[in-house]
Amino acid sequence: MKFENKVAIVTGAGSGIGRATSVLLASEGCHVALSDINEAGLEVTHELIKNAGHQSEIVLCDVAKLADVRQLFDGVAGRRGQIDIAVNNAGIGGALLFTHEYPDELYEKVIAVNQTGVWYCMKSSLDHMMKQESGGAIVNTSSLAGVGAAPRMSAYAASKHAVVGMTKSAAAEYGKMNIRVNCVCPTVIDTPMAAGMIYDNPAVTEMMKASIPMRRFGEASEVAKTIAWLCSDDSSYITGHAIRVDGGMRS
Ligand SMILES: NC(=O)c1ccc[n+]([C@@H]2O[C@H](COP(=O)([O-])OP(=O)(O)OC[C@H]3O[C@@H](n4cnc5c(N)ncnc54)[C@H](O)[C@@H]3O)[C@@H](O)[C@H]2O)c1
Repeated sequence: MKFENKVAIVTGAGSGIGRATSVLLASEGCHVALSDINEAGLEVTHELIKNAGHQSEIVLCDVAKLADVRQLFDGVAGRRGQIDIAVNNAGIGGALLFTHEYPDELYEKVIAVNQTGVWYCMKSSLDHMMKQESGGAIVNTSSLAGVGAAPRMSAYAASKHAVVGMTKSAAAEYGKMNIRVNCVCPTVIDTPMAAGMIYDNPAVTEMMKASIPMRRFGEASEVAKTIAWLCSDDSSYITGHAIRVDGGMRS
């Protein structure tokens, strides 16, 4: 069991990549605190883990709210005595609009969840991991939109570029404390967030697939495996990376 006696917090655990990651970490012996704003989604993830004979707990938290995030991290640390792994994954897509027509309120919401949410979660996890001799592993979910252009998704791209910047800076700051910080940068992954992009227009779907060397979209489980690897001792000397999970799209 790779994560025996480890404690993880996963945000956005009620769906998609967060759910797949939580199930995988729990299957390797980790106690996972499942967090999201979507209570029904969290219950589904919790059931999946319980039915497989593993353990998790549910903590509702809006990552855009500092008080919620503090309560999440302090609560888990208080109950379990440690936080070994933080997967800061919750996110929203925003709209598909050109920059000049993008509503400012939506821009602010995308930044609040995707950027400030990761900021709050990183700070809260660092507070606890710095006190632990064992350090910890933080994995943030950025995007391929965090390492290059994302036309008609400029707010999303801004937030995800910020996640890469925070990840690399924190890796440089906390490596000496044995805290590793990495992020994953997936292309289109078959989750509810990308469903519109994948299923609404077959012609566009085929065009998008053709631009990916592996000629298919990714699965949540494939991102989860990358995240779990970055959380594990198998990547013990890896920090400060923004790892593309993109079927070779930006190769
Ligand atoms: N699916 C893709 O194509 C894709 C590609 C690149 C990056 N990503 C990133 O992966 C991460 C997970 O996305 P997904 O594809 O699994 O999407 P998803 O919509 O299936 O899951 C996202 C989860 O985040 C939760 N969430 C939204 N706002 C929140 C908030 N304020 N506080 C707490 N939870 C909140 C949602 O309720 C949902 O359960 C996101 O950060 C997303 O930007 C996704």
